[in-house]
Amino acid sequence: MIASSSFFFGVVSLAVLLPFLLLSASATSYIDAICSNSPGDKAFCAKTLSAYPPAASATSTLQAAVATLRLGMSYANKSADIAGTAEKENPKLKGSQDAFLGIIGNLKSSTSELTEDPQTANYDAMVCYDNTKILEDLVGKNKDKASTTIFTMTVMMNKLIDLTVGATIAIGG
Ligand SMILES: *[C@@H]1O[C@H](CO)[C@@H](O)[C@H](O)[C@H]1NC(C)=O
Repeated sequence: MIASSSFFFGVVSLAVLLPFLLLSASATSYIDAICSNSPGDKAFCAKTLSAYPPAASATSTLQAAVATLRLGMSYANKSADIAGTAEKENPKLKGSQDAFLGIIGNLKSSTSELTEDPQTANYDAMVCYDNTKILEDLVGKNKDKASTTIFTMTVMMNKLIDLTVGATIAIGG
């Protein structure tokens, strides 16, 4: 009796849980589709997107890709703010805010092209590396605090651009 009722509850809870297990399994496969196509560190990619609820809860590759682009834009947005302050502290960094704003613009274009023209979406994501190259050149060998801040944000931005490139390839770009 005890054995059969625990069997019964086992089956019921499995039936209740199953849709969620399946959902998270497919969200993982959408993330895999993006990360396997990302040019950078694939483990970083999977870890970052799994920890980002809009990507982890995606119900299609397209949704996961849009979430990935949004993550890149959101990081560029915060970085642009900080870069504005850094430029005032060290005038050699002038142009770094514009570089982050450029990334936001490119990722916005990429998002809007994603369904109609994934190849152009891919191009728009790739162009963001030109913006991070500008940032690397502005920092150069400077070691002051403002430059170090821009450098750290640029390293992370490059990694997130890798993810957005993977996202556009996963959609067909
Ligand atoms: C950055 O994000 C804030 C808050 O969402 C928004 O008001 C602002 O327009 C964004 N900046 C850019 C350049 O997109």
